[in-house]
Amino acid sequence: MTEEVKEWWELTARWFQDDIDLDVGVNWTGVGVDDDLRLLLDVAGKDVLELGCGGGQCSVALAERGANVTGLDLSAEQLDFARDLAAERDADVAFLQGDVTDLPFADDSFDVAFNAYVFQWVDDLAACFRETRRALREGGRFVFSMPHPVYDLADPESHEVEESYFDTGRQVTPQNDLETDMVTYRHRVSDVYNALVGAGFRVERLLEPGSDDPDDYEEGPWGERRPELLAKLPSTLAVEARAA
Ligand SMILES: C[S@@+](CC[C@H](N)C(=O)[O-])C[C@H]1O[C@@H](n2cnc3c(N)ncnc32)[C@H](O)[C@@H]1O
Repeated sequence: MTEEVKEWWELTARWFQDDIDLDVGVNWTGVGVDDDLRLLLDVAGKDVLELGCGGGQCSVALAERGANVTGLDLSAEQLDFARDLAAERDADVAFLQGDVTDLPFADDSFDVAFNAYVFQWVDDLAACFRETRRALREGGRFVFSMPHPVYDLADPESHEVEESYFDTGRQVTPQNDLETDMVTYRHRVSDVYNALVGAGFRVERLLEPGSDDPDDYEEGPWGERRPELLAKLPSTLAVEARAA
């Protein structure tokens, strides 16, 4: 399962980074709408782990805020981009290759774990959350955002609900112009919440940022984020939890 996700990212990382052209910052809401949800302001001096750091834009931002940051990602291509970005900005971040469901860190290594828009690529969230809890010190914070599972259920043109919220697990999006399809995973909000509690986290806040005014949104680079639809359905789910 992880192999096909890795293959996708090795193939598309360069194109993704060129197209998305993300600013250095904590981009909680992915492409299009970018509001810093102010979940990670107080990181100076903290040991921080980014799970699925991609091109390193978030890791570098937190290093610039004074954190000791480690960025982990499956993709060697994404990590190459991240290392170049950190070097350009003279930011000290330890980047390494690995899988968020099997972390190469000792118990109690970090004060904070976070990521943005990674868990739609991860099948076994329970394993990831158990590993994250193990690597965090007691009382440590786990903050992340991910695509809200209801947003993709609607047809982007008609806004009619076309897919079932209950159809969880592996979703294949055919890519005609590439030699591999995109494979992601749908997780219900309750799946996320229950996996966190099962792994030993106390969930402190769930956030569904957004507004009902289409003018508050910009289109994403690939046209898949539509202001009219974004004003009807939440596109991002953000979670704040604490290692209990
Ligand atoms: C959409 S990017 C998000 C990265 C970054 N937060 C950003 O905003 O660009 C998703 C990243 O998750 C990584 N990823 C997916 N599954 C993973 C796994 N099981 N372990 C580690 N990284 C993973 C991918 O390689 C990719 O770099």
